[in-house]
Amino acid sequence: MADLIAFDAKTQVFHLHNQQISYIFAIEDGGVLGHLYFGQAVAGYHGERRYPRKDRGFAGNLPVAEPERGFSLDTLPQEISSRGEADFRIPAFVIRQADGAQASRFVYASHRIVPGKPKLPGLPAAYVESPDEAATLIVTVVDQPSRLQADLYYTIYRDRAVIARSVCFRNPADQPAVTLEQAASVQLDFPAGDYRVLSLPGAHANERHLQKEVVGYGIKQFASTRGTTSHQMNNFIALTAPDADEFHGDVYGIDLVYSGNHALTVEKDQIDQVRVVAGINPAGFTWELAGGAEFQTPEALLVYSHQGLNAMSQTYHRLIRERVVRGRYRDQERPILVNNWEATYFDFNEAKLRPIVDAAKKLGIEMFVLDDGWFGHRDDDTTSLGDWVVDSHKFPLGLKHFADYVHNQGLKFGLWVEPEMISKDSDLYRTHPDYLLAVPGRAPSPSRFQYVLDLSREDVRANIAGQLSDLLDQGYIDYIKWDMNRHLSDIYSHALPAARQGEVLHRYTLGLYALLEELTTKYPDVLWEGCSGGGGRIDTGFAYYMPQSWTSDNTDAISRLGIQYGTSLVYPPNTFTAHVSVSPNEQTGRSTSLTTRGNVAMSAVFGYELDLTKLTKTEQKQVAAQVAAYKQIRSLIQFGHFLRLESGNDYAWMFVSADQNEALLFTFHLLNNGQPAFHIVKMAGLDPAKQYEDTATHTVYGGDELMHMGLYQPLQRQDFTTHQYHFKAIN
Ligand code: GLA
Repeated sequence: MADLIAFDAKTQVFHLHNQQISYIFAIEDGGVLGHLYFGQAVAGYHGERRYPRKDRGFAGNLPVAEPERGFSLDTLPQEISSRGEADFRIPAFVIRQADGAQASRFVYASHRIVPGKPKLPGLPAAYVESPDEAATLIVTVVDQPSRLQADLYYTIYRDRAVIARSVCFRNPADQPAVTLEQAASVQLDFPAGDYRVLSLPGAHANERHLQKEVVGYGIKQFASTRGTTSHQMNNFIALTAPDADEFHGDVYGIDLVYSGNHALTVEKDQIDQVRVVAGINPAGFTWELAGGAEFQTPEALLVYSHQGLNAMSQTYHRLIRERVVRGRYRDQERPILVNNWEATYFDFNEAKLRPIVDAAKKLGIEMFVLDDGWFGHRDDDTTSLGDWVVDSHKFPLGLKHFADYVHNQGLKFGLWVEPEMISKDSDLYRTHPDYLLAVPGRAPSPSRFQYVLDLSREDVRANIAGQLSDLLDQGYIDYIKWDMNRHLSDIYSHALPAARQGEVLHRYTLGLYALLEELTTKYPDVLWEGCSGGGGRIDTGFAYYMPQSWTSDNTDAISRLGIQYGTSLVYPPNTFTAHVSVSPNEQTGRSTSLTTRGNVAMSAVFGYELDLTKLTKTEQKQVAAQVAAYKQIRSLIQFGHFLRLESGNDYAWMFVSADQNEALLFTFHLLNNGQPAFHIVKMAGLDPAKQYEDTATHTVYGGDELMHMGLYQPLQRQDFTTHQYHFKAIN
């Protein structure tokens, strides 16, 4: 472990390091933890770069017998800062003490270093499979007057450019209750400089578009107040050098392993230093910490790259794929599916679905997913959520009868559910009208005619777990699509007293995690796919339970280019799904070729979402060829390295195998032009010394040629065209 985490007792400096990164901080005056460095690995830190003290006007000093005027919490880069003691920048913690004061200052008490990485109780987190993969430093800090303690967790992996951080608060048993009004997972202070901040804002059907902004003076927040990760703002940001791009420059990623309200806040201070604080959104949050109680924050994953965004993404991809996603499907190729949603919407029955299953079988598709509308009497979206029993009009012989048919055709059978929701027209509501989130005396707001179940309550979770177990115990369901089609409002739980209503949103997320843990453990053979009106809950926390998620309700290939590009900043392509749908597209009205739709969808976990019985003979041939082709390249796409090359009017991305013997290049051209430029695409990540054969044309290229000289793209006579190249090393 000493090779990963060192503490120098003389200089009082902690140094977490591996071959790629160093993270350094020190115990400063009064036991305050001062941040020194996060970045490219330094073999040994000799103590030169310490906080340069300076007496500045209006700076508060430590309240000691002989205050040093050059030492101020307001300018010291720190590991953990709180409101109330002369650091006027954004705090990581706000604590309301028993006497009502918003005051606390955490100082060093002790530390220990443990092998591996402790689990976070009740929360998703990156994990290790052997204690040798990582080491964890746990620094205990204390707020001396209240004796409130916090354990700061820092895990460094041996071969990843990642630091995982979280905090656990402990109130001693003999102390009165305090209230946490903010409890961030991480504070990261940056030295004075010129930075950019990247974020992933979006909307329903338009998720995760890369936004790049200058970090200017003041405070900028990237947040969700919707009770979930949201389409509107993903819970990841990166700070970068001004000129950082896909392949060059310093990049610092900050990713929250959480699926509830989040806030990632950036402040540039009066002397150009930048602070980032990330964690549960303090808006609407309070948590009462009684004597003897603990509070564990979610985890944040910090990634550093000195080689631009692709290297950061690859670190996240490998970590999420190998040490966040769990279960049988983590290392397994995912089945190619057909989903009936865009084919039939609510208008189906067993007789109507069978021909789609037959067609799927002929085309080589591996799973049929029955989407919304199979339960209660749900012929539209006004009804039946909460009653997870089959609609006997649509399936007179039962759901198992249809699932058996699907299985007999050699396909797996998948099912859509939306377990967190309730319709007023449901037996569940009629029996338990108090199960939903609603403020007493106020009518809760419907959204898509539905309401949210209070998952902070154990009895509500038990009801849903019971209904889903009744379904899954029958053994014919191979896949579940876990949807969530509205955001949380009317935040109130009947199970909590008035003073603790600020806990409801986080307790909802903890309840959701408990439910998912129970079901995914009980049914380990089921493939779980996350969904929230498309990609409203794509986050690293959800990936801990669901190996894959539906990326967006927008299935238009051209819209998907930007959505999948942004999504790939953090999430590996085998965690998000993409389907070929009809043209003109149902969401945008845009027409694109089957090849273009295929190449976009093949760049992730592949499937179809259209009425296969309506394909022409030519289309059937094309689809069969796409399915066969994807099976050949599936392992490279789902487990290879992914690299973004270009975006804009031309997109290009590629996949390379770990041994660099195989590569796939996808290029996409959007709008055509009467006088098109000759466009060259340069590949990356290949072995410059290897020879690669284009498997379609048998042309041989050097890896160096493909990367440095690149390939001319064929000149287009149409909009929305695409090419797929498959290279194999020949020596
Ligand atoms: C959400 C999902 C869709 C589909 C519908 C069904 O919008 O993202 O894929 O399942 O719900 O209502």
